[in-house]
This record gives sequence, C-alpha cells and structure tokens, in this order.
Amino acid sequence: MPAPNFDVIASLAKRRGFVFPSSEIYGGMAGFWDYGPLGVELKNNVKTAWWRHMVQLRDDVVGIDAAIIMNPRVWEASGHVVGFSDPMVDCRSCKLRFREDDLKGKPSEIACPNCGNRGTLTEARQFNLMFATHVGPVAESSSVAYLRPETAQAMFVQFDNVATSMRRKLPFGIAQMGRSFRNEITPGNFIFRLREFEQMEMEFFVHPRDEDEWFGRWVETRHRWWTDVLGIDADRLRLRPHEANELSHYSKQTTDIEYEYPIGWSELEGVADRTDFDLRAHAAGSGKRLEIFDEATGEHVVPYVIEPAMGVDRAVLTVLVDGYAEEKLAKETRVVLRIRPDLAPVKAAVLPLLRNRPELVERARRLTTDLKHVVAAMYDDTASIGKLYRRQDEIGTPFCVTVDPESLDDGAATIRERDSMTQERVSLDLIPQRVADLVAGRSAWEGVRRE
Ligand code: GAP
Repeated sequence: MPAPNFDVIASLAKRRGFVFPSSEIYGGMAGFWDYGPLGVELKNNVKTAWWRHMVQLRDDVVGIDAAIIMNPRVWEASGHVVGFSDPMVDCRSCKLRFREDDLKGKPSEIACPNCGNRGTLTEARQFNLMFATHVGPVAESSSVAYLRPETAQAMFVQFDNVATSMRRKLPFGIAQMGRSFRNEITPGNFIFRLREFEQMEMEFFVHPRDEDEWFGRWVETRHRWWTDVLGIDADRLRLRPHEANELSHYSKQTTDIEYEYPIGWSELEGVADRTDFDLRAHAAGSGKRLEIFDEATGEHVVPYVIEPAMGVDRAVLTVLVDGYAEEKLAKETRVVLRIRPDLAPVKAAVLPLLRNRPELVERARRLTTDLKHVVAAMYDDTASIGKLYRRQDEIGTPFCVTVDPESLDDGAATIRERDSMTQERVSLDLIPQRVADLVAGRSAWEGVRRE
C-alpha cells in the first residue's frame, strides 16, 4: 500500500487522541500542535528508544538537559544571528511574504503569485528564523534573548564542563533532547514542519584525523536505528549526501536520512560533519579554551564534531505514516497501525465480552490492574467486542485480552494479536508475564486463528 497522505494521518491522529491543532477553539495557530493522551505516550516511547540507544547502551556518550534560553552571545558566536535566515520577498500590495527560492523568477520581473499585481514585490531580504524575546522586566534591546533554534549549541558551550566532570577522552559524545523553535515561513504538512518542535541531537567529538571514519560510522548507525529500532520500512528510507550549495554554514559534509512521505522524499535526520567550527567559534566568542588533551599524541586538540540530528515530531509522523495500513477483511476494511509493540501507546487492552456481568467486569478490571504493573494497559467496555478490537487496531495496540464467561470457570482468557488476529488462550494469572514477554520480544507469538 502506498504511504497514506497526511490528511488521513492527521484525521486519525485527532480522532484517536494522538495530535490536536494547538489552541483549536481559537482557530489554531500555524506551525503549532499539541500531543493528546496517546500522542504523548507514542512520543515518549520514541524518545526513550533514542536515549537508550544513543546514551544508555553506549560507553562513549553522555546526556545533558540544558536551558532553552541561553546567553544571546551564544547565537552571535554560533553564526545564527547573522546566518540562520532565509531570503524573503514581500508583496507591497497584498502584504504576503514568500521565500525567494519558491518564486519562479526575479522579484523585479514577475507578478505576485498571490494577488497577481506587477511591480509590487520587494527585493529579497534576509529574514532570521530565530524567535526573539526579552529577559527581565524592561523590553529594551540589551535584554533581547532567543529561543534556541537547535539544541546543539548547549553541547558545545558545555563541552569543557562535561569533559572535565565526566573525565572524558576522545572520542566521546554529548546528547540532548528538547524543544527548539524556528519562525518557519512555511510551516505545514501536519507535524512535518513546525515552529515549535523537539529535536534529539548528539555531538560526537573526535580527533580531526578520525573525522571521515566517524562520519561514515554515524551515518550507518543512525540508518540502522530507523530500521531496526523504530521498525521503519527500509525500502522507504534512503541516504542523500548534500550538494555543496545546500550545506549549512557550519557543515563540511552532511548526509540526510530521508523517508518517502506522500509529499515525496524528505529529511528525517541529518548527519553533519561540523568540523571544529563551533568549538573554535565559542572559544573566540567567550575567550575560554575549548580543547582536550589527546593522550595518543600528547597534544591539546580542538576536536572535530560529527552530529546526528533528528526531529522527534518527524519521527512520530513517520511511525504513524509507515505503520498505517488499510486491510480488506471478509465484511469490512480495518485500519491497523502496525507499529512496534514497544512504541505502541497501549500494549494491552482488556475487553470484557459482557459488560452486564459484574463478576466478569470485576475479573477483567483486576487483570487490568495486574497488567498495568508490567506494561501500559487499559480497560474498555464501551462498545461491542468487534468495535473494541477495531479501535485498538487503529491505535496500534499489539495485544487485546478478552475476558469471557468461560474465564470464570477455566480461569483463562484470550489474548489476540493485532497483526495476525490470531489468539492464544492463557491462564489469567500468567497473562501479565506473557504480555510483558511478548512486548519485550522475549518470547514468540504462538496464536491460532479463531475469529
Ligand atoms: N543541529 C543541526 C540541526 O538543527 P537541522 O537539519 O536544521 O539541523 C535537524 O534539524 C532535524 O530537526 C531535522 O532533520 C528535522 O527532523 C528536525 N527539524 C528541523 N526543523 C524542523 C521543523 N521546523 N519542524 C519539525 N522538525 C524540524
């Protein structure tokens, strides 16, 4: 099945409590979205998968969690005050603003693409993408500060504190996840391009001579994370090295990991070789040395940096797009979110077959409580069993547990697996452990067809 378009995903996301337009009752706000009860779980699961593989399972990476607002000199030294901008053209007549590279010709020669008037477009001007704010009670220029447009800079600015306190030697990395803000001119495509979003970035400091080797390793490691950990279809992923004219101001080489969205191949993550650009810029800006002693050569070096940088929201979107399937069954079409069990917001849903039998409901609720101690679980008796299954399929719940009248006699219930729709009959006491093992991939599914 081709990737579903973003409207289909946005509609499912809203209907099922994954993502809502921000401040919707006031008409929303372009580029801002809120995560609902299931969305926050999915997003947290994606973040946990990244942190675990990038920090906790490695000996050579440590994490930090820095403030969003930093000393504005950081952004002067990093080049963002001058360089983090897009060339924009305004229409004097209809007041709309366009990216110069979206226009089909020179502003002086073409009509406004919106109102059609000629001679109304201004020459291109640089429009900085950073949101500015004021720190302190007086709104004067001396107190201007910026909302960070990337999480990376804190890791350069704290390089020395981290290396010293954690007694690090090259090569080593600093990882961080958190909010970033960009006043994007054309936000859109659901949660693909946002003005407030989350990034997960890692700055890996290497000896300059090891730059190429580590660049290649990180491209490969990150590509494997998308397929093996997030479970994204390898056929819809590709690596694309940047052309020289599209490199960011700090990058010597960048390879994007792209996904084939319904809008075409687009960036999911970038792996950039930032050389010593940032550490040298901050050393010059702050007057502090940002170097490390290299035991192999007995010299102080300014490390080079290899940076894998990804967007959390784009990862959530990709998991939803990639997992979405419409399946024709005998009497209906079911929508099913085939996502990895460890990413699913709910791992097990307990569904009583009859909700007017108090003993049955009581047993099902007790099972839910037991399950909640080992995995994210929920209880639902608000519809017929067929409808309840479809609802859980749509939110990607890998296992549904049905408690039926027989359960009261044989002390067992039925576990149903989302993708195969096959079932296992398991003793009620053993169900929490069985589900936990299945979700963790510690044991294999052995269901048989019953529906
Ligand atoms: N520190 C390097 C850096 O920020 P980037 O390519 O601008 O590089 C890295 O951003 C990742 O952050 C992108 O691959 C994308 O996944 C995500 N990202 C960037 N801008 C975004 C936006 N406006 N909305 C959502 N995600 C964004």
